[in-house]
This record gives sequence, structure tokens and C-alpha cells, in this order.
Amino acid sequence: MFEIKAKDGLGRIGKLSINKKKVETPTIMPVINPNKIVIAPKDMKDYGAEMIITNSYIIYRTPRLKELALEKGVHDMLNFDGVIETDSGSFQMAAYGDIEIENKEILEFQRSIGVDIGTFLDIPTHPDESHKKTLSDLETTIERAKEAIEFELNLNGTVQGGTHLDLRKKSAEEMNKLPFDVNPIGGVVPLMMEYRFSELVDIILTVKGNLSPSRPVHLFGAGHPMLLSLAVLLGCDLFDSAAYVLYAQDLRYLTPYGTKKLNEMKYLPCNCPVCRGYTAQEIMNQSEKKRLMLLSSHNLYSTFQEIKLIKEAIHEGALFELVETRIRSHPRLLLAYRKLKDYYDLLEEYDPF
Ligand code: GUN
Ligand code: ZN
Repeated sequence: MFEIKAKDGLGRIGKLSINKKKVETPTIMPVINPNKIVIAPKDMKDYGAEMIITNSYIIYRTPRLKELALEKGVHDMLNFDGVIETDSGSFQMAAYGDIEIENKEILEFQRSIGVDIGTFLDIPTHPDESHKKTLSDLETTIERAKEAIEFELNLNGTVQGGTHLDLRKKSAEEMNKLPFDVNPIGGVVPLMMEYRFSELVDIILTVKGNLSPSRPVHLFGAGHPMLLSLAVLLGCDLFDSAAYVLYAQDLRYLTPYGTKKLNEMKYLPCNCPVCRGYTAQEIMNQSEKKRLMLLSSHNLYSTFQEIKLIKEAIHEGALFELVETRIRSHPRLLLAYRKLKDYYDLLEEYDPF
């Protein structure tokens, strides 16, 4: 189901086949909040998205959406015929405490609305949790993984284990034994929000070292274009972006070399349709709704432009060079990049030259 076409570092260009649909990786799945659609799923292909991600738990607990999804299926409901992945509510559980659903119930729901890749109810343990608590969460995650593979559904087998690398190793080994289609790395959103990129590098490379190279890896919650090239170099294939909307809500303009405040900008250094058609001031002057749409649109174009640049760099064998320019955008990215030297053995296995 996953064919590797070209490689550089631990990065690769791959072809993922899911339910007779094909997706070229590395790629990013725009996050669709079914209650708050900013860019319509049917327009996502114009940006370069072959695959989107939405949340089955939000659909499940919103009666109107639940009924519609059960009646028409998730593709008709969202009007998108590409690959649709769904998350399970795990993230809501981590953010807001307990949620009112069981693992088997949300898996059965995902199966019955016809998602292309579903997710079981893994537990994203906070990076600062103790070893003991992280282990007990991981044991629950592994039990739920074993329940999940009984369902007729393509599945994410999310690797957890917090910042405890022995637990990340254990988690990756367990997920590798089970027949999952994609292995996301979970529980890393708080690290990315706090710019703890060095710890992120340790986690990604520990997981990669214990997963078969034939498994596509999704870095759960990573959507800022600044981070993408490094994450691809470390072997991540899939990303999801809520960032294009979340940053736009804050009037922030994404670029692969960092985030800008729109109200401080004068020239928009991008050639997407939004930046060709408007000045920064003109976007600022729009209604709140229109402004959100325009800025989200630029943010998404900018993200896919970076994906294309990364793919071309892999094709040319120049991914390290691209990463070396991107890590200059933030001092913590530079420090994180230097962590690679602790993993030369692993790097050599993937990229002998
Ligand atoms: N979204 C962001 N992080 C996670 C995670 O760890 N697990 C799941 N299921 N979804 C996420
Ligand atoms: Zn633009």
C-alpha cells in the first residue's frame, strides 16, 4: 500500500494507495472542522490537497452531522472524493478531560460513515507526565490498538509514550507488530507549541528506528511550514494542518521562514491568488469573515508550496540543504537539527552516502 519512489536522509517520496485512491507523500491534510468550514473541502484540490482530515468525534456528538454522515457517508457529507481520514476524539480528551465515548463505539462509527483511514482512541500523554503514568496510559493505548484491528477499517496506529524514549520505543515496536496502515506519532502538540523541537527530534528518530521503513508516518498536529522540511528529513510522510485557520484567526501570515503579523506587513512576499489580488492593508480592511477566508487561503497555499519545494529537494538529493536554510528561522530549530548527530547510525542505515 505504500511504495517508496525516492529518498533523501530519512525522507522519502512515496505513493500511498488507500481504497483505490492514490496520494503522493510527503503531504499535508488540511483539517476540516465540520462545524466551522472556512475553505470548502471541494476546493481543497486547487491547493494541492489529495487528502483531508476531519474529526469523527465532532461529527458523532453533533446530531445533525451524525445523521447526515450515517445517511450519506462522510464523502458526500463533506463533498470531497479524495482520501478522508478521521481522528477519534483523543485530542479532545487530552485537551478537555474525559469524553463520553468508548473506543469500540467510535471505531464502529468511523467504519459506518465510510472513512478511508480511521483512528482508535489512543491516549496522548502530556510530555511532562511521569514515567509511571505515561506507561499506564500506553498500556491502555496498546489494548485499544488490539481492539481496533478487529474492525474492517484502514487504521492509524498512533505511537505514544510522551517524552520517555524507552516508552516511545516500546510503543513503536508494539504498533509495528499490528497490521496498521499508517503510524502517526502522537502526543507532540504541546512540544511543538512550546518550541521544544529537540525533544521532538528525539521522539521522531526513536520511533523511526523501531518502525518498519515501509510504514508511512504521520506527525500528528504538525502544520507550520517552517517545521515541515526538518520533519520530512527525519522520515515523516504525512502532516495535518489546522494551522492555516488557527493562525489566520490571529491575523498571522504563514511563511516557511516564520510567522508574520499581517498588520505589520506592507508587501506580501508570495504569488498565490490572494497575495496577487490584495495588499496587506486591503486584507486588513475586509470584514472579519472575508479576512479569515483570505488569510487562511494564503496560509494553505504557502504550506503546499513548501511541500512541493520539499519534494523537489528530495528529487534532487538536496533536502539537507533546504533544511539548513529553514532551521535558521528559529534558534530552537537549529538546536534541534544538531540532535541529528546522536543518530548517525540510524541515518547511515537510511542514507549510506
Ligand atoms: N491530534 C494531535 N495529537 C494527537 C494524538 O496524539 N492522537 C490523536 N488521535 N490525535 C491527535
Ligand atoms: Zn500568498
